[in-house]
Amino acid sequence: MSVRKKAAVIGLGHQALEDHVPGLADSQFAQLAAVCDTDPDKAAAQAQRHNVPGFTDIRTLLDDVRPDFVIVAVPHHAGREVIEACAASGVHVMKEKPFATSPAEAAELAALCDKAGIELMVTVQRRFHPTSSTPPTPTASPSTSSAPSSLTRRAGYCCCTALPTTTSAACGNSPPAASTRARP
Ligand SMILES: NC(=O)c1ccc[n+]([C@@H]2O[C@H](COP(=O)([O-])OP(=O)(O)OC[C@H]3O[C@@H](n4cnc5c(N)ncnc54)[C@H](O)[C@@H]3O)[C@@H](O)[C@H]2O)c1
Repeated sequence: MSVRKKAAVIGLGHQALEDHVPGLADSQFAQLAAVCDTDPDKAAAQAQRHNVPGFTDIRTLLDDVRPDFVIVAVPHHAGREVIEACAASGVHVMKEKPFATSPAEAAELAALCDKAGIELMVTVQRRFHPTSSTPPTPTASPSTSSAPSSLTRRAGYCCCTALPTTTSAACGNSPPAASTRARP
C-alpha cells in the first residue's frame, strides 16, 4: 500500500508546471492526486496529462478528493481565498511566496491556520542558498519584538525574504542587506 501523501496543485501556471508538478512526480513522499485552475482549459489539459481529476473550484476539489495537502501557486491576490478554503477543510497548505500581500494579512492567515490546526508553509526555495543564509540580526526596536512569532516558527520561514523590506516588522527580523537578498 502506498504511503505517499495525496497532494493537489492549485493554480496551473508557470511555477506549478515548471517546479511543483515535476517535483511531485519525483517525490517518494507525495503524489499528485488532483489539479485545479480557474481556467477550465488549463485544468482539463493537466488533468488529462497526469491522469488525475481536474477542477475549476478548490472547494469542490477539497470535498471530492480530500487531499492531505495542497500546493498553491496562484496570483498574489487569490492566495487568501484559497488558504481560507483549505483552512475550512482542515487541509495543509504549501503556498508559493509571498506568504501574504501585507503584514496584516500575514498575521490574519497565521491566526486562521492556527485555529484550523493546519500547517501553512511557504516556498522560499533559496533560503539555504549561500547568498540568503546569513542569520538575521536581532532588532533592538520594541515595536518589532512583539510581532507574531508564529510566522517564523511555522515553517522556518522569514517573510523578509519574500515581502518588501517594509514588512520586516511582521516577523521581527531585520531584512538581509539588499546585496545579499535572494531572488524571489
Ligand atoms: N518561488 C519562486 O521562485 C517563484 C517563481 C515564480 C513565481 N512564484 C510565485 O508563484 C505564484 C504563481 O506564479 P506563476 O508565475 O505560476 O503565475 P501564473 O500566472 O503563470 O499562474 C497562476 C495560475 O493560477 C490560476 N488561478 C488564478 N486564480 C486562481 C484560483 N482562485 N484558483 C485556482 N487557480 C487560480 C491562473 O489561471 C493561472 O493559471 C505567484 O505567487 C508567484 O509569486 C514563485
